[in-house]
Amino acid sequence: MYLTREQERMLNGEFGWVVAKAMSIIVKTGEALGATKLVEVAHAHVSGVSYSNILDPGLEFVRSLLLGGGRARVYTTVNPGCVDYSGLSELIDGSYAGKQAVIDDSLIKMGFKPVFTCIPYYHRPPAQGEFLAWGESSAVAVANSVFGASTNREGGPLALASALTGFTYYAGLHDPGNRVARVLVDVKDPRVRGNPGALGLWLGYRVREIPLVRGAGQGLADLKIMLAASAASGSHALVVLEGVTPRGFYSTDFVDRVEVEWDDVEEYTGVEPGGGSVLGYLGCPHLYPWEFLEVYRQVVKRGVLPRDRRLLITIPVEVFEKHYSEVLRLRRLGVDVAAGTCPVVSRLTRVFDHLVTNSGKAVFYLSKQLKANYYLTNTLGVIRAVYGERAG
Ligand code: F3S
Repeated sequence: MYLTREQERMLNGEFGWVVAKAMSIIVKTGEALGATKLVEVAHAHVSGVSYSNILDPGLEFVRSLLLGGGRARVYTTVNPGCVDYSGLSELIDGSYAGKQAVIDDSLIKMGFKPVFTCIPYYHRPPAQGEFLAWGESSAVAVANSVFGASTNREGGPLALASALTGFTYYAGLHDPGNRVARVLVDVKDPRVRGNPGALGLWLGYRVREIPLVRGAGQGLADLKIMLAASAASGSHALVVLEGVTPRGFYSTDFVDRVEVEWDDVEEYTGVEPGGGSVLGYLGCPHLYPWEFLEVYRQVVKRGVLPRDRRLLITIPVEVFEKHYSEVLRLRRLGVDVAAGTCPVVSRLTRVFDHLVTNSGKAVFYLSKQLKANYYLTNTLGVIRAVYGERAG
């Protein structure tokens, strides 16, 4: 692989062992993937920072990077941790707060932005054509498919290595030759479009190659749910969205065409809850402020939640800070708002019989973990279900 003089010096340890180690991870991965050079990244987003996922070995690793002089050489944001940074949530378990604080302290001292969210594009929307190094599969899919930037689906260590060096390998989706849509997926039925979580699960399970989806809608709220689900159930880092993905970012060479029908996605929607305790969940991926305010309006209009029904909403820390009074009002109505975390990277303090959500990704990870029946619907459907209103 060709390296510039500066990159060679980094690899040879002239910038310290942390940078050398990070550079060697990038170079070795790049060589394995056939990369011939490195490119500068504009933004690194580091996932795998939740103590409940990485435990003591991960904590020690992050700490050692700080003590070894590791510093962010590029704008770097971090994914959710395992604690609620608002301090108000009753449903997110806070027992690991001390350990998470050690990780967070190390990340912040290395110069990473403590945004604790899986929607880093809320803080810094990527520019078209930019090279990124992002962990967090849902954000990767949004960066590529919506913004027309390019990032591979990095594991935590690779995104971290790019944060510490400012570079990534030029291979995978950075190479336009690999951004070729091969399956044309037509969405004509509004019921399919209206359940983006289920559509995303279907895409991930059923379509192996890069799809071009026609008719999935244009709204970022639904698209990020669909992309998160398809990245979880499959491995899609890029879903070309007709009318959304910038032209010139991808090419097409179709080997298959398919129209997705309601029957195809219905098998992923689960069962509407009858009796028993119900957890409604919105915010996977985290909500933008305007999404949060729409949910707020819908909840306030309906009032206090019925007994044995809870609604959990997860949002970025900054959205909590901006909308503190709305969060307090929601709490009085029985809604639990957690900031900078989510139930997948943390633990819940209680069990429920039913999980009702708009997120296919949450269903993918949580339905088995919580041993709950699930019902996958759209945002309004979740609110209606937790208030015991009939679907319609
Ligand atoms: Fe975000 Fe957690 Fe879902 S990190 S995408 S809310 S699983």
